[in-house]
Amino acid sequence: MPQASGPIGVFDSGYGGLTVFKEIVKELPDYDFIYLGDNARVPYGTRSFETVYKYTWECVQQLFDLGCNLVILACNTASAKALRSIQQNDLPQLNDLRKVLGVIRPTAEVVGSYTKSGNVGILATPGTVASRSYVIEIAKFFPEISVFQEACPMWVPLVENNEINNPAADYFVKKNLDNLFAVNPEIDTLVLACTHYPLLINKIREFAGPNVQIISQGELVAKSLNEYLKRHAEVEALCSKNQHQTFYTTECCSDFDKKATLFLGRELQSKQLIF
Ligand code: DGL
Repeated sequence: MPQASGPIGVFDSGYGGLTVFKEIVKELPDYDFIYLGDNARVPYGTRSFETVYKYTWECVQQLFDLGCNLVILACNTASAKALRSIQQNDLPQLNDLRKVLGVIRPTAEVVGSYTKSGNVGILATPGTVASRSYVIEIAKFFPEISVFQEACPMWVPLVENNEINNPAADYFVKKNLDNLFAVNPEIDTLVLACTHYPLLINKIREFAGPNVQIISQGELVAKSLNEYLKRHAEVEALCSKNQHQTFYTTECCSDFDKKATLFLGRELQSKQLIF
């Protein structure tokens, strides 16, 4: 039987992926989408490789069961720690056209067009930093660029708890940026390599100063997905287009709906997914 078309799945450990989801829907408004936030098990950023892989693959399979043929891991930590295993070990066993894509490669591909000094800073979760995925991917496209990483373990909790306008946010954003620029003051480009960080962009801009460019991933990932669908007609044909958007969370829906508004900029009603 031929594979039926279905929505594009967008996965994140929690709310952060909604910053990417928003841009993807803007870029591809005709398609159907399912967003899944694993809010019951967030954060992923401080967990081991094995745990992030296990959780991510479980969620991807749930999205497949909901009819998705294409899933975007809109989570840097999941992209860094689980994507390769899923692409190389799990998907080939399915023996069909289902695909899973991440957010690191589309970002790494364009970093070179932003930096003039050739010094780029990566702001990310401890898990993404430890994986060195950005260092490895950027070196493939721009071997001449020097990459400096800073793990920002407090930034996700600040965003999750809506403390982004609190003095604690000033303290931690300044502290992490000071650490990074102390290692190399020539950094002229910062990558917000975590889906939560765009909500802190005003503070990051304030403490980084006017001469530093800040790359937020949403738009880049959305454009890259559009290009991917143009290049892969066989995958595009499996993506349905009725402009439907459905939201799932592994946690309590009312909590998700309230906080998701902050990330998406509009109200929504989610459904709970228990597995
Ligand atoms: N969404 C994750 C990312 O982009 C961060 C949140 C978490 O730690 O789970 O890396």
